[in-house]
Amino acid sequence: MVRETRLSPLIFTLFTFISFIAVLYSHDFSWAFSTFRHHQQFSALNDPPPSLDELKHNKSEEMLPFAVGKTLKECDIFSGKWVRDKENKPLYEESKCPYIQPQMTCQEHGRPDKDYQFWRWQPYGCDLPKFNATLLLEALPGKRLLYVGDSLNRGQYISMVCLLHSLVPENDLLQDYNATIEFYWAPLLLESNGDGIGDDKVSERIIRNGSIDKHGRFWEGADVVVFNTYIWWMTRLKLKILTGSFTDSVQKFEILKREDAYRMGVRSMLEWVQRNMDPKKTRVFFTGMSPSHTRSIHWGGEPDGNCYNETTPIEDPEYNWALHSHESIMKIMDEEFSRSSVPLSFLNITRLSSYRKDAHTQIYKKLWSPPTEEQLANPKSYADCVHWCLPGLQDTWNELLFAKLFYP
Ligand SMILES: *[C@@H]1O[C@H](CO)[C@@H](O)[C@H](O)[C@H]1NC(C)=O
Ligand SMILES: *[C@@H]1O[C@H](CO)[C@@H](O)[C@H](O)[C@H]1NC(C)=O
Ligand SMILES: *[C@@H]1O[C@H](CO)[C@@H](O)[C@H](O)[C@H]1NC(C)=O
Ligand SMILES: *[C@@H]1O[C@H](CO)[C@@H](O)[C@H](O)[C@H]1NC(C)=O
Ligand SMILES: *[C@@H]1O[C@H](CO)[C@@H](O)[C@H](O)[C@H]1NC(C)=O
Repeated sequence: MVRETRLSPLIFTLFTFISFIAVLYSHDFSWAFSTFRHHQQFSALNDPPPSLDELKHNKSEEMLPFAVGKTLKECDIFSGKWVRDKENKPLYEESKCPYIQPQMTCQEHGRPDKDYQFWRWQPYGCDLPKFNATLLLEALPGKRLLYVGDSLNRGQYISMVCLLHSLVPENDLLQDYNATIEFYWAPLLLESNGDGIGDDKVSERIIRNGSIDKHGRFWEGADVVVFNTYIWWMTRLKLKILTGSFTDSVQKFEILKREDAYRMGVRSMLEWVQRNMDPKKTRVFFTGMSPSHTRSIHWGGEPDGNCYNETTPIEDPEYNWALHSHESIMKIMDEEFSRSSVPLSFLNITRLSSYRKDAHTQIYKKLWSPPTEEQLANPKSYADCVHWCLPGLQDTWNELLFAKLFYP
């Protein structure tokens, strides 16, 4: 759990909340988790229900921890399209989830449209399983679901909390789920000079090689871990890597291209997973790059525009944000994850999110400081085209996580 004093007040708020959810869903837990039983209740999406023999066979030979079914082999759930869905979306109301940070409550901050809330991700090859909060909580008695990473991962964490908060049937709240959902702030996963209170203002990042345990010791014992790390590595073309420790009297550095630095970070994470996670009992996820929409010209818009005032997704299925941005980083993930023998499920949300130029917080969020006259006269100049409104896109990321966890 997150206990260190270096934590920003923001995290403390979340920490309070974490305790709260632990209380909300805690007390005695009397329901014995049985993969087998779930198995019978939830057969695969499009498959006929498996026979008992198949179940036993799968369970002993290839069932991943937490799995209760399977997604069709041919179906890549990250390949699909956005479909307008006013009936089933959003999965919760912004005003009904008390945990959304003011940096993400777009309606409260005056966003005029709500359209961004009414989209469902439809994979080409199958349907996504319906997000079932009860199933998730029942799978985690005495267990920890831990998100580790930056503000984008925190957004996904809060989305998950809202999904659980609002989708657990009212009378089930009386039932006791001893499940812990946590977020640990480590934007680069490794130790850096940007980890602490107010340190996000540090102009030059220094990242310490080989330092993953500095944060990693707080992740030990988690049952499901969802990592992300990306945007903080992109602040400069070259990054300063500390080869010794921050307390050395003479600090030694190497300067790495950001791609090489990022590769170093991903490798450290994989190596940490190898050392600390038991693939027979736990699951590890990595959420891919979250795209920004800072230049409308990329999707055929005004030359000087960005995500501000965007209310509809990009319709061109060929649009590929990675081409405009950090394709080299995508390649590094492809290489490192395929080379590694560490079992890790990659949430490949980049492309599907890149269509969602409409889903960012824009100017409709709590700002760190009030906008100046000049900014007010030109709102796009201070629009946030990196983070996302909740409810919204990040709920889909968790639906995909849900699918990969229970129907791998
Ligand atoms: C959700 O999961 C619970 C527990 O496994 C199950 O009893 C319930 O029927 C499921 N709900 C839906 C809508 O599938
Ligand atoms: C809840 O789970 C934790 C392990 O994460 C365990 O130590 C604790 O005893 C459990 N509490 C109850 C009331 O079951
Ligand atoms: C980082 O540490 C690893 C393992 O100790 C080493 O192989 C690598 O060369 C180091 N990289 C840098 C830039 O110091
Ligand atoms: C926002 O977009 C609408 C049309 O979609 C347009 O009429 C309006 O002028 C735009 N507002 C700004 C401030 O760009
Ligand atoms: C993620 O999806 C993109 C297509 O959107 C693909 O090019 C890339 O190889 C995928 N990455 C991994 C690691 O599966």
